[in-house]
Amino acid sequence: MITTDITKAVQSLLNDEIIAVPTETVYGLAGNAYSESAIKKIFKLKNRPLYNPLIVHIKSTSFLPEVAREIPEIAFKLADTFWPGPLTLILKRQAHIPNLITAGQETVAVRVPNHPVISALLSQLDFPLAAPSANPFGSISPTSAAHVFNYFEDELGVILEGGVCERGIESTIIGFEDEQPVLYRHGSIAVEEIEQVVGKVVVNIHNDNKPSSPGMLSRHYAPMTQTYLTTDVLGLLESFGDKKVGLLLFQDKLVTDSDTLQVVLSEVGDLQEAAKKLYAALHYLDESHLDVIIAERFPNEGLGKTVNDRLERATKRK
Ligand code: TXA
Ligand code: MG
Repeated sequence: MITTDITKAVQSLLNDEIIAVPTETVYGLAGNAYSESAIKKIFKLKNRPLYNPLIVHIKSTSFLPEVAREIPEIAFKLADTFWPGPLTLILKRQAHIPNLITAGQETVAVRVPNHPVISALLSQLDFPLAAPSANPFGSISPTSAAHVFNYFEDELGVILEGGVCERGIESTIIGFEDEQPVLYRHGSIAVEEIEQVVGKVVVNIHNDNKPSSPGMLSRHYAPMTQTYLTTDVLGLLESFGDKKVGLLLFQDKLVTDSDTLQVVLSEVGDLQEAAKKLYAALHYLDESHLDVIIAERFPNEGLGKTVNDRLERATKRK
């Protein structure tokens, strides 16, 4: 059930139960990172393949050496700049981090989230929280407690209420190869912002479905409704004739004589606002009994790259 009762949440976690928690990016499905039984429950409830590793959430940067070792200086520089916040670092793991979390890899993903509810929770726990996004594997990530409830209903005893997520898109994931920063996932912090702190970032995003790839499966964040991504929304709309089509647009409504459902993500053309509203718009369009959703491609800069990445994955055929 949806609740604001942090004491109950703490109790559930101490009992190796899993709960849903808000973060500034998306809601997470959280369990004790040091409890194999809790972690197994996360994978099972999400129907997530075991080869896809989880992010460990810690209270503050001072806990980083508890989960990671041989931390490069530039990792601390990034942590100092962006934590608490939507940045996940891939670092060498401490030996006691369960294999289930890292999918057997020698690295662990870690971040300090920036939301008062998960911070209050972490401050009452003496273990970190493993938490993937709180959606069934491959579906649209949740940015409100209601989204989480719609997916899992009473399978979750505690869904902590934390309002609508401020960032609305997952954290940016950065790893290090020979101390060189590498981008593994576009996210709420634009690559350009990271580059202002550490210089050139190499992009290494996998787009295949091989289990060896670190996480980014090509079809992901996907609505049930058939979804297309295009720069020519009007042209594609016309090709669908009488079908019931919904449009997901960046800034401007389309002038058309049909009564097509249209969602505009930011009337003032603000990429941050658009990113924040993206998943809620996809949830809404997906529930609107449409035959087709057409999404407009974003400008390929800053957070526009992140939005395009998610839309590309949402529109991949099965
Ligand atoms: O914003 C977020 O990061 C949210 C909130 C809840 O914190 N969490 C999230 O978790 O997006 P999830 O499980 O949906 O995505 C985690 C990503 C996956 O793509 C996974 O493959 C990658 O992190 N990952 C985890 N450990 C990794 C590792 N050791 N090396 C490379 N990628 C890793
Ligand atoms: Mg996810």
